[in-house]
Amino acid sequence: MSALLSIRGLGKRFLSRGTIVRAMENVSLDVQEGEFVTIVGPSGCGKSTLLNILVGLYPPSGGEIRFEGKPIRGLNPEIGYVTQQDNLLPWRTLRKNVLLPIEFRGGDGGGAEERVRALIRKVGLAGFDNHYPHELSGGMRQRANIIRTLAYNPRVILMDEPFGPLDAQTRLTLQNQLLDLWSEERKTIIFITHDLTEAITLADRVVVMTGRPGTIKSVTPIAIPRPRDVYHIHHSEAYREVYDKLWEELRAEVARIM
Ligand SMILES: Nc1ncnc2c1ncn2[C@@H]1O[C@H](COP(=O)(O)OP(=O)(O)O)[C@@H](O)[C@H]1O
Ligand SMILES: [Mg+2]
Repeated sequence: MSALLSIRGLGKRFLSRGTIVRAMENVSLDVQEGEFVTIVGPSGCGKSTLLNILVGLYPPSGGEIRFEGKPIRGLNPEIGYVTQQDNLLPWRTLRKNVLLPIEFRGGDGGGAEERVRALIRKVGLAGFDNHYPHELSGGMRQRANIIRTLAYNPRVILMDEPFGPLDAQTRLTLQNQLLDLWSEERKTIIFITHDLTEAITLADRVVVMTGRPGTIKSVTPIAIPRPRDVYHIHHSEAYREVYDKLWEELRAEVARIM
């Protein structure tokens, strides 16, 4: 099967205050349609840079990205991006915020309102449709942020530490909801996190990156059966085994840059 998204030899150098920073080097990865891939790696190893390039915010210094076998350059409307900052517009209600990307794309002939309503319900935000962002908790805003990207139906969704600022309980709830949404919608997801447990809980495969210049150190399939219980997964033997292996790999990289 050919990959939906194929990343080949991707690298990025930045010129920063007169010196060249090699952020990321020789990153190659094939992602299949419907796959959930998570990425962990030490801070500053180019994880956000990788997503920024995939979504087309700036070009790579080298390498290539293919979508369904065709090289892509620049913005690709099939790829949605969920950032850590929710970027909700303060003067628009929750519902209007979720509708915004659909409006940008010229609407979809009428089904949008219904789809947005259903998504709002699915993530437990029914009744908050007409609330403004300042009336919502951090967890609610991040849910709105995620369904806003789901609403316009991109085939790939990139997520950059979307649950980073949330408390532990809220994170688990949102992980659970994300897994439900993913199993219904069958999106292809690339998800960055600094939380190894989160990376394992969500993923079909976990990618470990090295310290800067970031490159792929390992790719590990997670054989834990689905549906997964985000609240108890850490009790299972299969979980502990893969956690220990990945933690060793990650620890070595974090130690190397300290
Ligand atoms: N626009 C930029 N200009 C200059 N340097 C940058 C820019 N974006 C990122 N970098 C540098 O590239 C490296 C990787 O950054 P980033 O991708 O944000 O890492 P991560 O998300 O893994 O923590 C860092 O050293 C960072 O300072
Ligand atoms: Mg980052």
